[in-house]
Amino acid sequence: MKIVIPGGTGQVGAILDRALTAAGHDVVVLTRRPTREREVGWDGEMPGPWTEVIDGSDVVINLAGRSVSCRYTEANLRAMMDSRVRSTQVVGEAIAAAVRPPRVWLQMSTATVYAHRFDAPNDETTGVIGGTEPDVPGYWAYSVEIARNWERAQEQADTPHTRKVALRSAMVMSPDRGGVFDVLLRLARLGLGGPVAGGRQYVSWIHDRDFVRAVEFLVDRDDLTGPVNLAAPGPLPQRAFMRALRSAWGVPVGLPATNWMAELGAFALRSDTELLLKSRRVVPGRLSAAGFDFEYAGWPEAAGDLVRRRRLGPGGARPVSRSLASGA
Ligand SMILES: NC(=O)c1ccc[n+]([C@@H]2O[C@H](COP(=O)([O-])OP(=O)(O)OC[C@H]3O[C@@H](n4cnc5c(N)ncnc54)[C@H](OP(=O)(O)O)[C@@H]3O)[C@@H](O)[C@H]2O)c1
Repeated sequence: MKIVIPGGTGQVGAILDRALTAAGHDVVVLTRRPTREREVGWDGEMPGPWTEVIDGSDVVINLAGRSVSCRYTEANLRAMMDSRVRSTQVVGEAIAAAVRPPRVWLQMSTATVYAHRFDAPNDETTGVIGGTEPDVPGYWAYSVEIARNWERAQEQADTPHTRKVALRSAMVMSPDRGGVFDVLLRLARLGLGGPVAGGRQYVSWIHDRDFVRAVEFLVDRDDLTGPVNLAAPGPLPQRAFMRALRSAWGVPVGLPATNWMAELGAFALRSDTELLLKSRRVVPGRLSAAGFDFEYAGWPEAAGDLVRRRRLGPGGARPVSRSLASGA
């Protein structure tokens, strides 16, 4: 198949590109700074010559959007919103204008669309969409708003010959340098992998192999449209999540962090405390109902595999993107 991945130069793009190319597909990445073979330039805003690669492709997987690894200032939140909504609209315009449109468009979304909650898991049918929770910082609602507008941009695209799926993905765990697993593992190895702010908040995650398998499953299954959760069936409290990670690497202790320490840690990581403190309890309702089997359903086994591959070193876990590889 010819598969086009707008925004495919980041962490998730590297995972998909690697796996889909190895599976024999012809993968083209749309990027604002093309430098390598199979990369085509676009600006994520306006139609241009790049739309020719969409015309005649089989699958489009749009991952583009300003990185969420930043402080959530007003300007950064606005850039996160605009880059996601506009790039999705322009991908939709390219598909709508194509003489031979792709048969499926997988659009990245996020598990962050669901409410901060502890009481029950969120699936696609009974899950609670966030934005109105009491006692959480006001800007958390804005992250939900980004996710909703992102999905709406795909829904509103007039692409009658192309099946549309929104990927409500949890954190994708791969051993690659600079990815989210790498950051968490570094914290654990420094002895800082303890509970944050009590550690009750749920962590949803998906192993990179299952993420790729789920994408392939959704490409194949013509009966599935709309939002689909990509998350392992075993989300767990952050305290247990980090304990399993420490045990997989062999780190005996993890210092607990209070709220203000999380602030400091998030600042040091150039990230935001929402990523650490929001309870994301998300389960794969539609994937499971459709018969998808996770290879890594439980976190201890997944963490064990990721640690093993991480220990193989750079050959086993290549850098995930140009910018991360160069340390930028
Ligand atoms: N990583 C996860 O675990 C995870 C989980 C759930 C959802 N997501 C979402 O999935 C998508 C991919 O994740 P990722 O971790 O691979 O993100 P990433 O590493 O930040 O990569 C996203 C890509 O988007 C492109 N981009 C950035 N700003 C842009 C803009 N203003 N206009 C057009 N393109 C822009 C960049 O490509 P160029 O600079 O080459 O143009 C970048 O490589 C993101 O939207 C993320 O929010 C990720």
